[in-house]
Amino acid sequence: MRLGSVALPLAGGLATVAANSVSAGCRALTKPLGDAVFSRNTEVYKYESKNFWSNTEILSPACVFRPQSTEQLAEGLDALVHANADFAVRGGGHMGIKGSNNIDGGVLVVMSNLTTLQLNDDQSIVSVGPAYRWQDVYTFLAKHDLTAAGGRLGPVGVPGLLLAGGVNFYGNQVGFGCDTVVNYEVVLADGSVVQANRSSNPDLFWALKGGSSNFGLVTRFDIETIKSRKVWAGAHTVAAQYVDRFLAAAATYASDISDPKTHIVPALVPGDSTLASVILFYDSETESYPEIFKPFTDIPSVSSTVGFKTVAEFAAETGEMVVDGINDVFVAGSVTGASYEELHQGISIINTTFFNELPKLYKQIPTANISTIQLDWQPIGADWLKASEARGGNTLGLDSSKTYLCYAEVVEWIGSAYDDIVAEWVEKTTYAINNATQKAGLYDPFNYMGDSAGFQSIFPGYGEKNHQKLISIAQKYDPHGVFQTLMPGGFKIY
Ligand SMILES: Cc1cc2nc3c(=O)[nH]c(=O)nc-3n(C[C@H](O)[C@H](O)[C@H](O)COP(=O)(O)OP(=O)(O)OC[C@H]3O[C@@H](n4cnc5c(N)ncnc54)[C@H](O)[C@@H]3O)c2cc1C
Ligand SMILES: *[C@@H]1O[C@H](CO)[C@@H](O)[C@H](O)[C@H]1NC(C)=O
Ligand SMILES: *[C@@H]1O[C@H](CO)[C@@H](O)[C@H](O)[C@H]1NC(C)=O
Ligand SMILES: *[C@@H]1O[C@H](CO)[C@@H](O)[C@H](O)[C@H]1NC(C)=O
Ligand SMILES: *[C@@H]1O[C@H](CO)[C@@H](O)[C@H](O)[C@H]1NC(C)=O
Ligand SMILES: *[C@@H]1O[C@H](CO)[C@@H](O)[C@H](O)[C@H]1NC(C)=O
Repeated sequence: MRLGSVALPLAGGLATVAANSVSAGCRALTKPLGDAVFSRNTEVYKYESKNFWSNTEILSPACVFRPQSTEQLAEGLDALVHANADFAVRGGGHMGIKGSNNIDGGVLVVMSNLTTLQLNDDQSIVSVGPAYRWQDVYTFLAKHDLTAAGGRLGPVGVPGLLLAGGVNFYGNQVGFGCDTVVNYEVVLADGSVVQANRSSNPDLFWALKGGSSNFGLVTRFDIETIKSRKVWAGAHTVAAQYVDRFLAAAATYASDISDPKTHIVPALVPGDSTLASVILFYDSETESYPEIFKPFTDIPSVSSTVGFKTVAEFAAETGEMVVDGINDVFVAGSVTGASYEELHQGISIINTTFFNELPKLYKQIPTANISTIQLDWQPIGADWLKASEARGGNTLGLDSSKTYLCYAEVVEWIGSAYDDIVAEWVEKTTYAINNATQKAGLYDPFNYMGDSAGFQSIFPGYGEKNHQKLISIAQKYDPHGVFQTLMPGGFKIY
């Protein structure tokens, strides 16, 4: 389908200038790439402009550009830059921040048709296009008794996750998902296509490992595969009366992550009575209930899904928690600690502050309009960070001599009437948590991008040195700052 005739700008007035400049991008694309450009009245526009995880992300772009190939994307980007036209890029659409992956009046570039999915000859590397969700990748790899270090919930998008870092089940063995990327195919601001890997454009290779959309548009990720037939995994859920024991178990695990085949996500889910639920993951197809999980599994469960399954099956199971078509926000923060006592104190301060603030939210939003509230902790310790270093490192700036507990707050609600209330509440609550952990000497400025809200900053938390290095690499590959100015969405280095 083609973009129909473009409305002629009316004479005079500010609105006219805006209307004229917004359609400029669509017009510039339509000339050479009409088959890949879709105006508002097309089915493709209607589908793609709604194809986001959270309602809070939905805006009104002037048209959708859905390139069929890397070359088309490169040609389109060149046309947009020459027309000085605003655009946004959407991969899997799971960054739940208004304007991070969408744009009012500009061009929405979607990756849906960049669908490379291919193993190399010895099956050590899988090449993945940015069209995919992790479920697609795991299902494909499972047929070969393989998997990869990606999202823990199937519906999450491949590109945004790998560009943010990538917290994954195999972290203690391979580091972040981005650490397992051996090569990126990237469209640069000048419309050229380059490979970034250890020997070709190594500075860009490093920058893409956590630097997000500041350097170029990635059209292929070449990722290490991981041999895996089945794993032992599931969610072990316990009742409110055990919350303290559960949080102690989380601190025990975090203070001594002695078995790198493990991964956990402990979470509290407030409700009529608070549930505590931990995702347990063990990279073994024969051994269940490993010793290190005993502090959790000794707590009687109200429900448990643990068992042997493929990663594809497990990601589909966790993916059932994802509800589309409602409103969502994630917020991130971190504490660090060197002992059980410090890590437990960090967890406890975050827990207590969060629950102290909760009544203020319940007072403003009817229970029927709150879908989910969750508070979870991601332990990241020495094995994980040393695995990152062994693969050449990333931009996140985490120190392998420390143990991090990255917390995430999740609020999901029904009705955009509550958007501002939630936004104000999460911001205040996060500052209250961080002020309290700072006072205790446990605060760390690292905010994991994948879990961060729009009001948070990311790159200062990577450390001054890494932040400056990212800026100079962006200036080398994109001297006019196209990915900060014409593509304003997402977390920007400046
Ligand atoms: C339910 C849920 C579960 C999650 N689970 C995990 C998890 O297990 N581990 C984890 O690490 N994170 C997790 N996340 C966070 C996740 O990593 C981020 O939301 C990530 O942005 C998702 O990627 P996406 O492609 O879907 O995002 P999008 O919203 O499409 O993109 C995110 C950002 O990247 C940019 N971008 C997208 N594609 C490209 C590209 N090809 N080139 C350049 N820039 C691009 C976009 O413009 C945008 O700014 C989860 C999020 C949700 C909502
Ligand atoms: C492009 O992606 C859409 C959405 O996933 C799909 O329906 C369509 O068949 C794809 N088109 C091509 C040519 O691959
Ligand atoms: C790195 O890029 C070069 C091309 O620039 C390519 O020949 C080489 O195969 C790439 N290496 C990897 C590991 O992909
Ligand atoms: C966590 O918060 C709940 C609710 O305020 C409280 O009952 C519990 O004791 C707290 N636990 C810890 C370890 O802070
Ligand atoms: C609250 O949620 C209900 C469905 O549970 C929905 O019909 C209603 O519109 C929501 N309220 C607001 C103000 O959006
Ligand atoms: C402490 O709270 C104030 C607002 O009350 C906020 O500006 C500041 O950033 C907070 N500190 C941290 C470390 O988040």
